[in-house]
Amino acid sequence: MLSKKLQDIQNQAQKEINEATTLEALYQVKVRFLGKQGELTLIMKDMGGLSKEERPAFGKLVNEVKQAVTTLHDEKESQLARVEMDKKLSEEELDLTLPGPYLPNGSEHLIAKVMNEIVDILARVGFSVRTGPLIETDFYNFTALNIPADHPSRDMQDTFYIDGEHVLRTHTSPIQIRTMQTEKPPIRILAPGGVFRHDYDASHSPHFHQIEALLVDKNVSMADLKGTISYFIREFFGKNIKTRFRPSFFPFTEPSAEVDCSCPLCQGKGCKMCKHTGWIEIGGSGLVHPNVFKAAGLDPEEWQGFAFGFGIERMAIIKYGVSDIRLFMENDTRFLEQFK
Ligand code: PHE
Repeated sequence: MLSKKLQDIQNQAQKEINEATTLEALYQVKVRFLGKQGELTLIMKDMGGLSKEERPAFGKLVNEVKQAVTTLHDEKESQLARVEMDKKLSEEELDLTLPGPYLPNGSEHLIAKVMNEIVDILARVGFSVRTGPLIETDFYNFTALNIPADHPSRDMQDTFYIDGEHVLRTHTSPIQIRTMQTEKPPIRILAPGGVFRHDYDASHSPHFHQIEALLVDKNVSMADLKGTISYFIREFFGKNIKTRFRPSFFPFTEPSAEVDCSCPLCQGKGCKMCKHTGWIEIGGSGLVHPNVFKAAGLDPEEWQGFAFGFGIERMAIIKYGVSDIRLFMENDTRFLEQFK
């Protein structure tokens, strides 16, 4: 009687498992036959009608049927899971040929671009980049560079003082001292970066950029300085651009010279950019002053050197024809993207 019922349940379970076409339907079958209130659980309760001797054998039989139904269910379950996964994968396929969302490209800032151009040109003759802090001590920005306490460039008009001891650096020359203190000659370094002066109009910005070059070696002369700068200007502005050195004064160089290049816009004939002189000033230069070597701990009897410092905005303005220095700080994308 009971084993007939068990047989029927097994047949029914097998049939329903075979017929289930979704995981959800299969789960319902599992609950109906194998769950806590399932038919194969409840049938155990019917054992009350069996004799003591018959019970163990029947219990064993029920367990075997449960096991068989479970195995069948599990096989079907993994088969259906595969089918459902395949279906999902094919429905949700990504079309990689669709155009993506539009992301506008940024562009390198003209100051960064010009800095990199300058570094590349001077790297070819052995110079490598060093950097220093924007907030400098009075010592590095002035004293060590042979700038005495009463020198006009220390005036509150030009220098942003942070406190009695610290300034926003007014030039990149402090990196000369920092490098000579920490590295042994021969030295060939470039120091590009931001500098600050109290000045603001169409051709002056309170925050602008310079690039400093320092070479320290034995038997360095003005000829080395002039050769290096002339090479650099030809490479940067073009082969037919001439370089001119005008005697000048800087506390940290002796002799000192201001560097002009023939106007790339009018080729030296005279125009608005060069104020009709045919020449444009781009920076200062000279041989390292003995006092600067002493302040940095080098013996001026043993070492010579040259240094120059050029204004990056100036060079960008000349090479790329920018009309107003303030454009560099405004971050107007219509300006910036012209130099992609
Ligand atoms: N530091 C000088 C300036 O800012 C430029 C300079 C650098 C001159 C190196 C001579 C040598 O004007």
